[in-house]
Amino acid sequence: TFPKRVKIVEVGPRDGLQNEKNIVPTATKIKLIDMLSEAGLPVVEATSFVSPKWVPQMADHAEVLKGIQKFPGINYPVLTPNFKGYQAAVAAGAKEVAIFGAASELFTRKNINCSIDESLQRFDEILKAAQAASIPVRGYVSCVLGCPYEGKISPAKVAEVAKKLYSMGCYEISLGDTIGVGTPGIMRDMLSAVMHEVPVAALAVHCHDTYGQALANTLMALQMGVSVVDSSVAGLGGCPYAQGASGNLATEDLVYMLTGLGVHTGVNLQKLLEAGAFICQALNRKTSSKVAQATCKL
Ligand code: HMG
Ligand code: MG
Repeated sequence: TFPKRVKIVEVGPRDGLQNEKNIVPTATKIKLIDMLSEAGLPVVEATSFVSPKWVPQMADHAEVLKGIQKFPGINYPVLTPNFKGYQAAVAAGAKEVAIFGAASELFTRKNINCSIDESLQRFDEILKAAQAASIPVRGYVSCVLGCPYEGKISPAKVAEVAKKLYSMGCYEISLGDTIGVGTPGIMRDMLSAVMHEVPVAALAVHCHDTYGQALANTLMALQMGVSVVDSSVAGLGGCPYAQGASGNLATEDLVYMLTGLGVHTGVNLQKLLEAGAFICQALNRKTSSKVAQATCKL
């Protein structure tokens, strides 16, 4: 059985655009986010307040956050790696933030330049300030099905980091297959371990599609009771510190599958396709969404 409704967390404007070779104009980012809001996505991750030296593509974070139309009922979380980023995000009007850790020591070092323990201390500082300001905090765990630097990652390690983020106060934990290497059986084993430590209602999955497994892995998670799924319009995405990782599960493909299963998402597929076409044209690239490529109609 599947959940009756699924909350889709659209990560294209952040996960997608952080990984583009060319810097995307701020106005294009704003238009994309507004179109995604129009399409009915309940959550649109807007940008990240990271160091512009590390990720120049996100340097216009404050302008993007200030420039978008804020639709009532839609959340626009932003990534914050440390307290400096958190403060800048709140100053720019963020009403929700996301911290991002990993189940791999080496990836944590490459991505945010500290150990897992140090990252948890930084996140704790953010969580304490956010709690005082009533700002919800989402927590990512990367490399849950494999790491570009360490290879296999044990489900127990993922469960340990997820549990820590949850007990520190994250309301939702997004489990990221950062490099898209997982298969459904590995997803099942990882989720079983994590579900012992964190209630399934507080879990999300975030699958990159490098090996073409993102939709299958997501389906496995849905069958296990997960009802929050991250995806990216046109299948954009990647991580500058995880070489070779390709885009996320395409939101269009996720919406098509869920609609076929009779699962409610609230997303208008036609408007979503228009948003995908807009950003692909702006980036001068072909969509990675199979649904957007399809021309046969039922
Ligand atoms: P660091 O170099 O160790 O930082 O980087 P530092 O504290 O030593 O500071 C160095 C300089 O950066 C200083 O400036 C700071 O002010 C500045 P300087 O004095 O040299 O001029 N700085 C900042 N500037 C703006 N915003 C900030 C900030 N913090 C420090 N927040 C740091 C540490 C965490 C900043 C860096 O490693 C970083 O920005 N990393 C971000 C990497 C990133 O964005 N990765 C992609 C997102 S994660 C992802 O994609 C995975 C996910 O999708 C899930 C999945 O797929 O698994 C979420
Ligand atoms: Mg990602």
